[in-house]
Amino acid sequence: MMYGEMTMSSRIVLRDHPSDFNSMPNQSKGVNFDAFLDCILEGDCRDVLRKLPDDCIDLIVTSPPYADRRNHTYGGIKPDRYVDWFIPIANELKRVLKPSGSFILNIKEIAVNGERHTYVIELILAMRNEGWKWTEEYIWHKKNCYPGKWPNRFRDAWERCLHFTRQKQFAMYQEAVRVPMGDWRHARLRNLSETDKRRDTSRVMSGFGKKIENWVGREWAYPTNVLHMATECSNKGHSATFPVSLPSWFIRLFTEPGGIVLDPFMGSGTTAIACQQTCRHFVGIEMNGEYCEAARKKLRGSEGPTLFDYLQENESDGNGSTGRIDSTVPRPLLPETYRGVGQVEPEESATSQESISVSR
Ligand SMILES: C[S@@+](CC[C@H](N)C(=O)[O-])C[C@H]1O[C@@H](n2cnc3c(N)ncnc32)[C@H](O)[C@@H]1O
Repeated sequence: MMYGEMTMSSRIVLRDHPSDFNSMPNQSKGVNFDAFLDCILEGDCRDVLRKLPDDCIDLIVTSPPYADRRNHTYGGIKPDRYVDWFIPIANELKRVLKPSGSFILNIKEIAVNGERHTYVIELILAMRNEGWKWTEEYIWHKKNCYPGKWPNRFRDAWERCLHFTRQKQFAMYQEAVRVPMGDWRHARLRNLSETDKRRDTSRVMSGFGKKIENWVGREWAYPTNVLHMATECSNKGHSATFPVSLPSWFIRLFTEPGGIVLDPFMGSGTTAIACQQTCRHFVGIEMNGEYCEAARKKLRGSEGPTLFDYLQENESDGNGSTGRIDSTVPRPLLPETYRGVGQVEPEESATSQESISVSR
């Protein structure tokens, strides 16, 4: 079976670091790419990425070291140097990403001398100069951020997930991340007013409009670009992990089962775990040997049900009979691990998202 072909019984199994890895040539078109799949490669991603062939990755999801953070554990990059440090890496990422692929960069600027530093904004501009498209910005709202207060600002409850692509047309499977409309709709849609029955144009002249009647009988809605997810609270043997639900959401949105996901700053292996759960292949790079070992241990030990297992148990609409997942058919409500985002709230649907797309 080719790596692109996944069935419900497919399992992503961690494989060993290729023994001839260090002697492999850089950027070889003839390289046996299979040798890299489902491995945690130990090394500096500035070197390791050069060994990957062109156009081989469907999605990159990563959280690089933030500027000047965790100098004692894995080294921070000075904010003023951040763009110069990251751009050569971004160029390699662009080379290995398929033209239809996406790059999700989880990052947040730190505050220096009482104000937010501008290196993330400068990085976006520099990446655009290098040919990336800054397609979207998702916000990760950290539902359980630390309590606290600073003299000049409030608690930091969100991080950026910048979405870059190589071209305007890219792979996106919006159906895979739809959310249930929520119980609020029963009360809201029971008695429709006259306004609800016609297209109501925005009173703030935004050009958007909505027709509430269209929502009757709808079960599913598309989410917004704000992802409400709790941070990782349990000890993962790493000081800066993101929750599995974060990479998992982007993996389901931008790849199909069997797709290939790269995390060049793999840390404790969270992206690889998300791939294992959703039946995607991964390539992980991490320069800290202890983190690599922790990630491998976690991957070997994670024998929980995959998304496929869940769908097989809960879906009765024909997917099971073919043994394949069709990402275009409606999904049942997934457990939190796979879902990552909560239900669409009434205010979100009815006001701020006036042109909300709703689907059955
Ligand atoms: C913010 S952490 C990533 C955490 C990860 N998302 C997780 O959930 O565990 C960044 C990681 O990048 C690694 N790192 C830093 N510079 C690197 C480099 N040049 N090449 C590879 N890994 C690097 C660090 O050791 C650290 O584990």
